[in-house]
Amino acid sequence: MNLSLSPALPIRGHISVPGDKSISHRALMLGAIARGETGIHNLAPGEDVRSTMRCLRQLGVLIQENGNELRVQGGLKKSATMLDAGNSGTTMRLLSGILAAQPFSTTITGDASLQRRPMRRIIEPLTQMGATMSSRENGYAPLTIHGGKLHGIHYRLPVASAQVKSCVLFAGLGAEGETVVTEKFPTRDHSEKLLHLMGAEVSVISDQCSVISVRAGELHGSEIEVPGDFSSAAFFIAAALLLPDSELLIENAGVNPTRTVFLEVLREMGAVVEIVNLRNESHEPIADLRVRHHALQGVKVFGNRIPLLIDEIPILAVAATQAEGETHIRDAAELRVKESDRIAALAHNLRAMGAAVEELPDGLVITGPTRLRGAEIDSFGDHRIAMAFAIAGLLANSPTTIGAAECADISFPGFFEKVNRLAR
Ligand code: S3P
Repeated sequence: MNLSLSPALPIRGHISVPGDKSISHRALMLGAIARGETGIHNLAPGEDVRSTMRCLRQLGVLIQENGNELRVQGGLKKSATMLDAGNSGTTMRLLSGILAAQPFSTTITGDASLQRRPMRRIIEPLTQMGATMSSRENGYAPLTIHGGKLHGIHYRLPVASAQVKSCVLFAGLGAEGETVVTEKFPTRDHSEKLLHLMGAEVSVISDQCSVISVRAGELHGSEIEVPGDFSSAAFFIAAALLLPDSELLIENAGVNPTRTVFLEVLREMGAVVEIVNLRNESHEPIADLRVRHHALQGVKVFGNRIPLLIDEIPILAVAATQAEGETHIRDAAELRVKESDRIAALAHNLRAMGAAVEELPDGLVITGPTRLRGAEIDSFGDHRIAMAFAIAGLLANSPTTIGAAECADISFPGFFEKVNRLAR
């Protein structure tokens, strides 16, 4: 499906965004191994989370759905058929951690994009813990996980990845002894928070590094409130900042500090984003975000901030085209192994819209401001590329078409309808 966007008027009013994708995956998976029933409220509606639900159902988990409200009955059984994680790296990596501790074997595959994403990063620690795993050459999916008795390990994350951290911690829930993960660069901590909520023996010590430890033990079924997804809100934050005369209130967004570094970076660029009505639900901070149009300056983003805004870099790059001066995004080579090679996808599409962009092995340098021109955008089947360039399309001087725009459904079904309703 190709979708067209036209230059927009100011955006005004209030919106909410769908439930957080990262938290939804974790709530489902931990609910699936907990004793008793787990209620999940405001589950993310996208395709990725449906992939997790489909895999869990194949593993015998009972899930009752009523819109975005779910009841999950814990208990896993061997699946008679291969699991399919679709486009979802989180499904494959986190579920592999859980499956490694089960007394049966499972094979899990994914779509063409997921079959090109690196899985050695989970095969190595799970093998060290005692699981037997096989994969295609170079550690690509399909993966077969021969689960069984695991033992705890001390694992220092070689890449800053919340998915790898969570995979090892989830395996640790079924391992003998203590499992300790050390991360030099902090990453999103939703797993730690949810494990704590569900009664796991988990501890986190943060000094120069974060050291997270977990011991085997039963989780108890819980009621989990999922906040709005900050990464989905980021597209609307950028739209309101960049379109003159805009003012927008985004309600009920998750504002966990391991997710909101994008706001810090925007503030350094000159933006004013107010956090109002801050409260806590299920150990996660939630708030409303008030954003007004503001002129921006270029910024330098690198090092330990990158993992904390990794999913917002596509929309940050679009914002950078409107900022005065150079924006440097470095130390972000991980973007090359996301749903698409996001560095290449951003450089290609930003150039098509007339932006000044230099592609580096680990990032981008963007010089602005540039009046973008409408273009034919290649989403590369990547939801965050499609959505970032939809916002760029609102800023352009002529219509923009997004190719394979339906990929936005991976995290945000209804995204384009919401944009069109606000921007007219
Ligand atoms: C995620 C972690 C990040 C992020 C992804 C979701 C998670 O991936 O990019 O969209 O839910 O843990 P990495 O762990 O590969 O950095």
